[in-house]
Amino acid sequence: MSTIILGIESSCDDTSAAILKDGVMLSNCTANQEVHKDYGGVVPEVASRAHQINIVPVVDQAIKKAGISKDQINAVAFTRGPGLIGSLIVGVTFAKGFALARNIPLIEVNHMQAHVLAHFVEDPKPAFPFMCLTVSGGHTQIVVVKSHLEMEVIANTIDDAAGEAFDKTGKIIGLDYPAGPVIDKLAKQGTPRFKFPEPKVEGLNFSFSGLKTSILYFLKKEIKTDPNFIKDNMNDICASVQDRIVSILLNKLQKAVKQTGIKEIAIAGGVSANSGLRQALQEHGEALGWNTYIPRFEYCTDNAAMIATTGYYKFLKGEFAEHDVRPTARYRI
Ligand code: KG4
Ligand code: ZN
Repeated sequence: MSTIILGIESSCDDTSAAILKDGVMLSNCTANQEVHKDYGGVVPEVASRAHQINIVPVVDQAIKKAGISKDQINAVAFTRGPGLIGSLIVGVTFAKGFALARNIPLIEVNHMQAHVLAHFVEDPKPAFPFMCLTVSGGHTQIVVVKSHLEMEVIANTIDDAAGEAFDKTGKIIGLDYPAGPVIDKLAKQGTPRFKFPEPKVEGLNFSFSGLKTSILYFLKKEIKTDPNFIKDNMNDICASVQDRIVSILLNKLQKAVKQTGIKEIAIAGGVSANSGLRQALQEHGEALGWNTYIPRFEYCTDNAAMIATTGYYKFLKGEFAEHDVRPTARYRI
């Protein structure tokens, strides 16, 4: 008998549903929430309400697109955390209701573990053990992945996440939220001629808050003599910021490779969609003899395919959740 899993993702501002049959993805549908643009960041209460509106149509769409019926679904995998509690509640509650009504098991998924397992949605898949640099709006981690479900976080950010560094810089220079993709686009037409300092953090951990402050002071100084400085140098500012964020990430990754000896290297999370990071990783990989794995764009940012895939590996091990399972805003791997 085949195993069909419905995956649900609602940890932040994307409502997503996916159908996976025996580990093969049949559909992956996502409703993005445009409502946050005006506020310069995700407004939790607004996100939660939008999830409530989106969840049923998105699940319906995923089931239709997969060409299956509801009765064929064998288990529901959902994001338990980490994330915004009001957003998580919508996905968790929906998953519980669906599982209860159909009398099928529930599988809880850690969102950060799922970002790593996005590499198992399709080929080529990394071999164990591998290292994954997971860079999103809320997290920046280097994870040693020993098997599908055995992961050890060996580096974390001590302040802002890499995605926040993009988004907060974007806010300073007047870009809409999320600024990461816009900075990426503008950076392509610019030159990284402004040099921002690299933070000095011992060991493998990351820090991005100092970068944001140095950008702010640099721009304040330039604006004093040229009020149009930001507008006239937008592309170069974006290229310079992106260049520094990418070099911070890759320097630490290089250090982690030296420390662990693991040369099987993956990137994941929203910031792994960044073209500067993708290119730099590929170049480093070729120069240093790493096998690199870069996910397709739709599996970088939040999606339910990665939740259903993680759910599938848990299903195979019989790791099911109780019906009184609760969402957890802070949820470590
Ligand atoms: O993984 P994700 O979709 O959600 C979280 O779990 O946080 O990541 C969202 C983050 C945002 O900070 C966004 O600006 C960033 O990923 N992002 C990018 C790009 N696409 C998304 N950052 C830089 N370049 C991109 N192309
Ligand atoms: Zn995410």
